[in-house]
Amino acid sequence: MLFSSISSNTWLLSISLLLCIAICACNASVDPNFRVRAVALGGWLVTEGWIKPSLFDGIPNKDFLDGTQFQLKSVTTGKYLSAEFGGGSIIVANRTSPSSWETFTVWRVNEKTFQLRVFQKQFLGLDVNGKVGKGIVAVASSPGVSETFEIVRKNSNSRRVRIKAPNGMLLQAKTKELVTADYPAGNTTSTGWGVHDPSVFVFKIVGKMMGEFQVTNGYGPLKAPQVMREHWKTFIVENDFKFISENGLNTVRIPSLKSNHQKMIKLEYGVKVIIDLHAAPGSQNGWEHSASRDGSQEWGKTDESMKQTVDVIEFLASRYAKHPSLYAVELLNEPLSPGVSVDTLKKFYKAGYDAVRRHTDKAFVIFSNRLGPMKPRELFPLVRGLKRSVIDVHYYSIFTDDFSKMTVQQNIDYIYTNRTAELNRVTTSNGPLTFVGEWVAEWNVKNATKEDYQRFAKAQLEVYGRATFGWSYWTLRNVQKHWSLEWMIKNGYIKL
Ligand SMILES: *[C@@H]1O[C@H](CO)[C@@H](O)[C@H](O)[C@H]1NC(C)=O
Ligand SMILES: *[C@@H]1O[C@H](CO)[C@@H](O)[C@H](O)[C@H]1NC(C)=O
Ligand SMILES: *[C@@H]1O[C@H](CO)[C@@H](O)[C@H](O)[C@H]1NC(C)=O
Ligand SMILES: *[C@@H]1O[C@H](CO)[C@@H](O)[C@H](O)[C@H]1NC(C)=O
Repeated sequence: MLFSSISSNTWLLSISLLLCIAICACNASVDPNFRVRAVALGGWLVTEGWIKPSLFDGIPNKDFLDGTQFQLKSVTTGKYLSAEFGGGSIIVANRTSPSSWETFTVWRVNEKTFQLRVFQKQFLGLDVNGKVGKGIVAVASSPGVSETFEIVRKNSNSRRVRIKAPNGMLLQAKTKELVTADYPAGNTTSTGWGVHDPSVFVFKIVGKMMGEFQVTNGYGPLKAPQVMREHWKTFIVENDFKFISENGLNTVRIPSLKSNHQKMIKLEYGVKVIIDLHAAPGSQNGWEHSASRDGSQEWGKTDESMKQTVDVIEFLASRYAKHPSLYAVELLNEPLSPGVSVDTLKKFYKAGYDAVRRHTDKAFVIFSNRLGPMKPRELFPLVRGLKRSVIDVHYYSIFTDDFSKMTVQQNIDYIYTNRTAELNRVTTSNGPLTFVGEWVAEWNVKNATKEDYQRFAKAQLEVYGRATFGWSYWTLRNVQKHWSLEWMIKNGYIKL
């Protein structure tokens, strides 16, 4: 497996591999000055559509993927469909301005057939108990036949749709207060789709997700394995590891999920490996990069999801513990507060740590701090007593209001002042090591010059270079060029 593909690079690679084994061996016990300088292999084993949008190109009817959120305006009432009370009741067509109760979230059954979730998470469905006559309701907590609809678009460029219910009839806004499934479907291409047709709705997409769930369910069970295998084989290749090791990096952080780690067998190119569980069962943050289906965050709500996750860690640890390149296991990426409570997380982290230690006492174990409201040292009581433990903090200068109006200089000052203070707060002499496990030289500044970017990157390298475990750039390759460390290095924006 190690040298299965003999290419022109193989000699070089095997030499660096041998070196690595030697280096790893001494690092394991003595070198306290070693610092991880890593890059994440984002969008590879865990799909993120914004990193490589073309991965989604071949999906039929790709506007309606799992997690897509849309609103529907009746052409006859001129009002929006709404789940009364946000769910648990009837559907009406009387709202003037759309918001959360007027938003429907897609579960895709196949390219034509969908289940639609409302704000309180019930599914749109026929009122099979007949409580509201032929009305449409949102009461089912899990979808069945009565909750499965066909969405028929006028054509692929049109925003006009009709929705065919499981009884074969079309939904119609009969009045502003009554939405029913009793409009004859007839020939949906011939009726004109006009403004007097109560079965016609105009849709507007207000949210999209492009993650692992969306891409695999979008292609479906026959096509997805083929598309994904091709992606894994081509998105990251042997030469990338050569590039990484020749450009001042020493480690890769590999976002992983349960199923497709077989790819990692090949990662033996003189570069250390951090395995990072990015997508836990049920999703620990509701984002596409944790493979959430529809934005829900279910992880940790049941003991079962916790146990499954410990099993995944145990599997990864047992499989890779003996690899000389394995440097660390990160138990869970970006658990989000308040959905994941600190007590739940600590319970899982302890069990995950023990699972890793059953297979290796050398590998570091990385504990990602929660995002959202939290205390930066909240994991210390747990982690302090655990050998070779690391706290991971993610430092982006983008996603919160703090950064919306900052100038170039303010951004740079923020790194030197505020990030230094933040990092100092979690860096203690007898506590866990610290890891800036995600950062990027991108910001909200418009039209910054190359020199601005260089200064911004330099500031971050300087400050995050003081993290006692090290840092990792997000990510190696990305169509958004500043998010691609490869592009930043090749174009002289970042030099390590
Ligand atoms: C919409 O219709 C429902 C059901 O009749 C009613 O309870 C609600 O007040 C109406 N909302 C608006 C904004 O008209
Ligand atoms: C529906 O109507 C269109 C336009 O009149 C016609 O071309 C098409 O063949 C009809 N389809 C069916 C299934 O009757
Ligand atoms: C950054 O730190 C400075 C100095 O402590 C403080 O005045 C400022 O409010 C902080 N900036 C932000 C955006 O938190
Ligand atoms: C950025 O550059 C574009 C194209 O040159 C220009 O249209 C835009 O106004 C600039 N934006 C700012 C904030 O300077």
